[in-house]
Amino acid sequence: MPNEQRIYMDANATTPVLPEVVDAMLPYWTEHFGNASAVHEHGRIARSALDEAREHVAALIGASPSEITFTSGGTESDNQALFGALGPGQHLITSRMEHHAVLHAAEELDKRGVEVTYLDCDRDGVVSPEQVRDALRPNTRLVSIMLANNETGVLQPVREIAAVAREHGCLMHSDAVQACGKTPVSVRELGCDLLSLSAHKMHAPKGVGALWTRRGVRIRPLLHGGPHERQRRAGTENVPGIVAFGEACRRSTEWLRDGGAQLLEALHQRFETGVLKRIPEALVHGSQVSRLPNTTSLRLTDVDSEALVIALDLQGLSISGGSACTSGAVEPSHVLIAMGLTEEEARSTVRISLSRLNTEAEVDRALDILDRVVQRSRTIEAVNAASCEDIQRSHA
Ligand SMILES: Cc1ncc(COP(=O)(O)O)c(C=O)c1O
Repeated sequence: MPNEQRIYMDANATTPVLPEVVDAMLPYWTEHFGNASAVHEHGRIARSALDEAREHVAALIGASPSEITFTSGGTESDNQALFGALGPGQHLITSRMEHHAVLHAAEELDKRGVEVTYLDCDRDGVVSPEQVRDALRPNTRLVSIMLANNETGVLQPVREIAAVAREHGCLMHSDAVQACGKTPVSVRELGCDLLSLSAHKMHAPKGVGALWTRRGVRIRPLLHGGPHERQRRAGTENVPGIVAFGEACRRSTEWLRDGGAQLLEALHQRFETGVLKRIPEALVHGSQVSRLPNTTSLRLTDVDSEALVIALDLQGLSISGGSACTSGAVEPSHVLIAMGLTEEEARSTVRISLSRLNTEAEVDRALDILDRVVQRSRTIEAVNAASCEDIQRSHA
């Protein structure tokens, strides 16, 4: 199927780079190829492009440019926050529904002598400030709770949790990779100390991101080498990628200011209302709590999510059977299990995540495809189940 007819609804996995963002970055591959640390004109042009990008990233989250450290993406930002803040004998509080960039970093820290508490979430996928308060210990150094979950889109009460952390005198990190560029984020309002961002979730290239560190907060660098990024992150800066990230942030700030999130939410509502009307026994996880304006975690009874994703793919619709980072793995989604779903329930859940580039016509076409494919797969499941019963009966 030609690419332009396909429908992409997997924006939480990654997003297409906007043509304007590509235009902004292109000169930094060619005529403005300088190393931002060099003193000559080539270097100065690259340096000033970095400075400008830093301002755009900071503006998106209401921060100061000097608090932004560019990284290679969300994974590095999360690792930098956790490894930079914690040492042996200290305590970390996080949740079971974090992205693996936090969970696997926490597991590694555990091996290195850091105490880790993993909080469960409720049926809606929310971690409460009370849970965090109850888990605090005298040696708690960091609380890390994501702002928006990548699989359900559920928003966490980060502001309230950060207040608990502050009262206790420990640091608060939030993985805001999925929230930034989709919903307004203000680090001052959240009151946290560290916040992770990733460019490819907001229409910029993969392999670039940032860690916001509140002024005055000191953490150890993850990478050692040159004095780049105010000695917080060694390595020659990825100038074209950072320029693209800056441009995407600038556009996201404008998009949010102009009511983009509300338009996306309306599109998202059109999709969810359509699904619930057309497909019997469909259920949206986290529908009773605040969510991102683009994500639907949809449970379809009697449907195998991996088979459904493949069947939809053949019909030209790209969605996900769970988090893209774990797709291909046999294990059911750790996020859905953390919410108390059974393995079977988790295995019949798919994720549809829209972007600002989707249209009403695409939503309507996606609903037709989904409706058709789900009916068919339920019929096949029912036929399979009936034939199994027949076979068992004939062998009895
Ligand atoms: C919540 C969350 N955190 C971190 C990451 C990792 O970001 P990156 O792909 O930029 O390393 C992802 C990517 O899916 C994510 O969804």
